[in-house]
Amino acid sequence: EERGFRDSLELSSHAPSTESNRDQSDIAAPPPGFRNAPDSDPSRRRVREWGALLLERARESRLGMAGVDAARVDDAETLSGLVGRARQAGEEWAQTDVEHRAALLERVAEHLEARRGDLIEVMASEAGKTIDQADPEVSEAIDFARFYADAARRLSAVRGARPRPRPLTAVIPPWNFPVAIPAGSTLAALAAGSAVILKPAEEAERCGAVLAEILWDAGVPHEVLNLLVIDPQHLGHALLGDSRIDQAVLTGAYETAQAFLEVRSDLRVLAETSGKNAMIVTPSADLDLAAKDLAASAFGHAGQKCSAASLAILVGSVADSPRFRRQLLDAVRSLHVAAAWTPGAQMGPVIAEPEGKLLRGLTELEPGETWWVRPERIDHALWTPGVRGWVEPGSFLHRVECFGPVLGVMRARDLDHAIALVNEVDYGLTSGLHTLDEAEMREWVDRVQAGNLYVNRGMTGAIVQRQPFGGWKRSAVGATSKAGGRHYVASLTDWERADAGP
Ligand code: SER
Repeated sequence: EERGFRDSLELSSHAPSTESNRDQSDIAAPPPGFRNAPDSDPSRRRVREWGALLLERARESRLGMAGVDAARVDDAETLSGLVGRARQAGEEWAQTDVEHRAALLERVAEHLEARRGDLIEVMASEAGKTIDQADPEVSEAIDFARFYADAARRLSAVRGARPRPRPLTAVIPPWNFPVAIPAGSTLAALAAGSAVILKPAEEAERCGAVLAEILWDAGVPHEVLNLLVIDPQHLGHALLGDSRIDQAVLTGAYETAQAFLEVRSDLRVLAETSGKNAMIVTPSADLDLAAKDLAASAFGHAGQKCSAASLAILVGSVADSPRFRRQLLDAVRSLHVAAAWTPGAQMGPVIAEPEGKLLRGLTELEPGETWWVRPERIDHALWTPGVRGWVEPGSFLHRVECFGPVLGVMRARDLDHAIALVNEVDYGLTSGLHTLDEAEMREWVDRVQAGNLYVNRGMTGAIVQRQPFGGWKRSAVGATSKAGGRHYVASLTDWERADAGP
């Protein structure tokens, strides 16, 4: 039942943020007994029937609304009371035995599996996730629960050092992975002995509420996991400015992480931030596979992934190959674009009517560019995908993350030139290479500046334990370890020397 794509050739390397660290020790052998949760198998008739029912429900779903209403806080005084109670709970939680926390996370995994359908329903309903994107997201959340349970147990096994939990963590997740990312950050903090204030993204509050409900049902105490719905313009500053919060785990824009750091100088911020990711295709590639992986990496979830391929860099003769161009454009044009609850939809809407950078990406060409596939607006947030070429080095689409369904195509003389184009951007999150030439693989692995490297595979959908996820350069702020890797939970605690004792 193991997911097939999980077995494809993959590489995930580099610790975040530090150029010198090419250590891969966070991808050691899996913990004994750990297996990645399988996705639902649509080749089975019962799964297809279940999926159809979920999509029918998603159209009118009200899941999570009651939880959002209950968690809403409108004034600073109520917020301060909540932070105080959470802090108190965190100080007690920090004293709990790691085995207690690990067993709880294992229970959470079972509850997440049991509520897979509800999570898919609310993601399709609220966040525009098609079922083929939402289902693996639940699997990832389950993987985080099981993997971090093991990490909790290992906290007490470190020789010569003792973890000192940070009692209160604020978790600020994004809307694009409205279940897996809040689940991962929350569960890691709980495993590390920290209480959590979870503030879901405004666009995905119901997803956050259903997730919180599942964790409470599994036995996480309400005062240890606090769901908080606020208007961040109004109360965000009051939340992060409260010195009783020890750390903030953020996934979002680089600029947001910078703004957090300005709120309070002693706030520890661990952030996964933006990306501007390229897939390089060389003349030694399996071009059919490259076209397929490129379309999936660029347009899965309408391109709204920090890991998405937003550039294709075609090397040498690939740039002039009519066959490759046709394969790619056919793959893009044949995507079924429709509301997420439409059976068979492969690409849903973007999260809101495009504006700013995304609108520019979807509508304005730069000098010298033409539309290879021109995006069309079907409805306010529902757009067909776009492909633009040739994107010039240094231009808008080369450097700026648009976060939506638009792919820029660049040409490179050779692999060396392609790597230089990748490394020129400010970000370094994911990077992809399609080639069957091992020397090219080695050269690229050695030189490319990105946190997660994928060879002959799509570049989204990092798998917990196998592909710890995190970036370089402006793709990470303050994070010292990758999510879904061996050291992540430990990075959310402080460490003190263990004395020999009396
Ligand atoms: N972890 C996600 C991916 O790999 C992005 O957040 O696509």
